[in-house]
Amino acid sequence: MNDVIKVLESRRSCRSFKPEMVKEDEIKTILEAGTYAATGMGKQSPIIIAVTDKETRDAIAEENRKIGGWNEGFDPFYGAPVILIVLADKNVPTYVYDGALVMGNLMNAAESLGVGSIWIHRAKEEFDSEFGKNILKKLGIEGDYEGIGHCALGYAAEPAKDAAPRKENYVYCI
Ligand SMILES: Cc1cc2nc3c(=O)[nH]c(=O)nc-3n(C[C@H](O)[C@H](O)[C@H](O)COP(=O)(O)O)c2cc1C
Repeated sequence: MNDVIKVLESRRSCRSFKPEMVKEDEIKTILEAGTYAATGMGKQSPIIIAVTDKETRDAIAEENRKIGGWNEGFDPFYGAPVILIVLADKNVPTYVYDGALVMGNLMNAAESLGVGSIWIHRAKEEFDSEFGKNILKKLGIEGDYEGIGHCALGYAAEPAKDAAPRKENYVYCI
């Protein structure tokens, strides 16, 4: 099996991260891989916000927890020190697909470097709200962006669980 296929099949969601910050060059490499995802008509509709500042990371986690309806104290990012937020321009017809592919690239690039990752949802609700709009405003980002997902990153505190067996009839051939 070649290395790319190995990475694609061995990536698993991490739900327990060490607090240690991910190395800067690893974050850079993962982000770069994200920007090379295919996009409809090559329009590159997504943007990625890389959050490493603990205060901001914790505020996003708290907002996400509230949206998800979990009890106080629960961290929906499982302790991950880095959050890569993917948003995409709603004016591009393929924006959701574009953003989802960026998310895939980020997670697979992380796996290739031995960095744990997981897609955490509710970015749409976050960035539809004043909370998210303020983050965009502070960064000087203007436009019609919808939150697609958060790619939480960090070093895994526990070995990854085995993948669930693939369902029957996943693939049909003609
Ligand atoms: C669109 C999407 C949203 C997800 N949202 C969450 C989430 O909010 N919280 C979480 O713990 N996992 C989330 N996950 C991770 C999935 O639960 C996980 O990918 C799935 O259980 C399969 O496990 P694997 O990634 O290890 O293959 C999400 C995954 C996707 C693709």
